[in-house]
Amino acid sequence: MNGMPASRIGNVPDFLYGTAWKEDSTQALAELALRAGFRGIDTANQRRHYFEAAVGQALDAVCREGLLRRADLFLQTKFTYRHGQDHRLPYDPAADLPTQVAQSMQSSLDHLRTDHVDSYVLHGPASGHGWTDDDSVTWTAMARERDAGRTRLLGVSNVSLRHLVQMAATGAEPPAFVQNRCFARLGWDRDVRAFCAERGIVYQGFSLLTANLEVLRHPLIARIAGRLQTTVAQVVFRFALAVGMLPLTGTSDARHMQQDLSSRDLPLSADEARAIESLAG
Ligand SMILES: NC(=O)c1ccc[n+]([C@@H]2O[C@H](COP(=O)([O-])OP(=O)(O)OC[C@H]3O[C@@H](n4cnc5c(N)ncnc54)[C@H](OP(=O)(O)O)[C@@H]3O)[C@@H](O)[C@H]2O)c1
Repeated sequence: MNGMPASRIGNVPDFLYGTAWKEDSTQALAELALRAGFRGIDTANQRRHYFEAAVGQALDAVCREGLLRRADLFLQTKFTYRHGQDHRLPYDPAADLPTQVAQSMQSSLDHLRTDHVDSYVLHGPASGHGWTDDDSVTWTAMARERDAGRTRLLGVSNVSLRHLVQMAATGAEPPAFVQNRCFARLGWDRDVRAFCAERGIVYQGFSLLTANLEVLRHPLIARIAGRLQTTVAQVVFRFALAVGMLPLTGTSDARHMQQDLSSRDLPLSADEARAIESLAG
């Protein structure tokens, strides 16, 4: 089952560098990733897990140096509900949701030192059980930000098939992206990927390595890594690309950054991709 290639949407890179959990190393690692060749950056206005302002410092440094221009970059950030935040909020918690979205977006633009992002993602729906009225209100507010030119595209994250079906049933505009933790034991999020593929939505997969440690140890992956003379991590990223995912990596290691990017060129066969896809689900 092949997904929607990210390139079909326009100016979307085929790999994203994730900036979560890097705290005081965020600026240095984001800079390192850009120098290594990443052109897509994922962050969030959620200080609990991300240091968005430090991402902005990294962007400023590489742009001032003349290494890159804003137009060369794909910047993605997120709106995070109150329950996903700590006390360091990018909005007034007493304000209504549309106001919170507008305040969070303005704060993201200030952090990232830009007048627009490329993708604005709802970090997670309000309830794990289904798409709620609050989600509809928030999604409409996010679409207003897009209409005002502050983001090119919209996405949702941490969603089940149920969320997506219910969201569609409200008549909501479909997202350009779905960003999910991708578990091999769920057929690499098979149901959600199929929903996305049918509708031209690009599926972004995170935790491809950390959520799938059993797969990294599987003899099939070791055999393919041996044939390709590469690492098992690279096989997993190459597989993700082969089935149409837009993968994220948050590596802190310069060598792994190069390996993750160069996985794009590995000659994984269609049979091998199919075998990996049916490995654990
Ligand atoms: N929407 C959400 O709720 C959500 C949730 C989680 C994450 N995310 C996004 O996704 C990004 C990625 O997060 P993640 O959960 O995938 O985990 P991660 O933070 O990218 O961790 C990946 C792990 O894989 C290792 N790794 C990467 N490349 C490797 C390679 N070539 N060889 C060996 N090990 C390698 C890294 O170790 P080294 O550092 O040693 O390379 C690290 O331990 C985050 O930064 C964030 O932007 C979004």
